[in-house]
Amino acid sequence: MTDLRAFLSGQQALIDAALDRFTPAESTEPVTIHKAMRYSLFAGGKRIRPILCLQAAAAVSDHAPGAMNAACSLEMIHTYSLIHDDLPALDNDDYRRGKLTCHKVFGDAMAILAGDSLFTLAIQTLAVIEDLDAARTVRLIRELSFASGTVDGMIGGQVTDIESERQKPDAELLDRIHRAKTGALLRASVRMGAICAGANESEAEALSRYGEHVGLAFQIVDDVLDVEESSEALGKTAGKDAAQGKITFPAVYGLARSREMAIEECAKAHDALAPFGPRAARLHQIADLIVDRKS
Ligand code: IPE
Ligand code: IPE
Ligand code: MG
Ligand code: MG
Ligand code: MG
Repeated sequence: MTDLRAFLSGQQALIDAALDRFTPAESTEPVTIHKAMRYSLFAGGKRIRPILCLQAAAAVSDHAPGAMNAACSLEMIHTYSLIHDDLPALDNDDYRRGKLTCHKVFGDAMAILAGDSLFTLAIQTLAVIEDLDAARTVRLIRELSFASGTVDGMIGGQVTDIESERQKPDAELLDRIHRAKTGALLRASVRMGAICAGANESEAEALSRYGEHVGLAFQIVDDVLDVEESSEALGKTAGKDAAQGKITFPAVYGLARSREMAIEECAKAHDALAPFGPRAARLHQIADLIVDRKS
């Protein structure tokens, strides 16, 4: 575990340095938007999506051109989604990553624009990849844009999440929301790593299955933590899902069954990695971490 912790902080440092290079400096005009983007981007996220991207690539090959760009593009989309998720018109949250939310510091207008501009920056970050052939860069853009989009993607999931507030807990609806709002981007994270590493069809398929299972496990655990943990531990307001009548795993299945389901998804994620043998050691550890985490 100590080894894993050291490994993850090393990964986080590499990712943070790359995000810093790809993002305009605070002093760049117009300065307010760059301050707002950087405020949220460097507020202390776990960097799970970029780490999954880099480690999926590493499971396939030691050579993965563009993988750091892909990793950073995922974190930019994710951070944009959090800024918008926290807005008063959506989940209306005052805290994120242990700090005041973007709109609390910069106002709603600038937070909306900071989210928009992280989306734009994500695409730019893929478009400036130099050492990957154009066909594969297009595949990266395709993965990221579909996973973030309205049809079974992140935005679609957010729409259903909001429209389902205060409705009767429903297992089918829950599955649809979670696979889309969170699962799609986590699945894309490993698929984008696979593309950079030149994965063949069956490797990409195995990694996709891993991504789907860890993606679902991730949001099940997010829902459980919202009930069980303190706001302090989470760095965001705990207990909000029940207060807002969200359709969540604990609401549909109860806490005990939700925890079991996360473990079941994690086991399926492990199974999917069989073809990679020891090359997937880190992906195995990350799957366990996603289920065991406390924040
Ligand atoms: C939180 O994601 C939002 C969800 C999609 C559940 P993370 O738990 O990855 O948040 P950060 O990036 O570490 O802040
Ligand atoms: C957010 O889900 C998923 C996104 C696409 C941002 P939640 O609303 O459960 O995320 P938290 O709990 O606020 O981080
Ligand atoms: Mg939400
Ligand atoms: Mg939220
Ligand atoms: Mg949540």
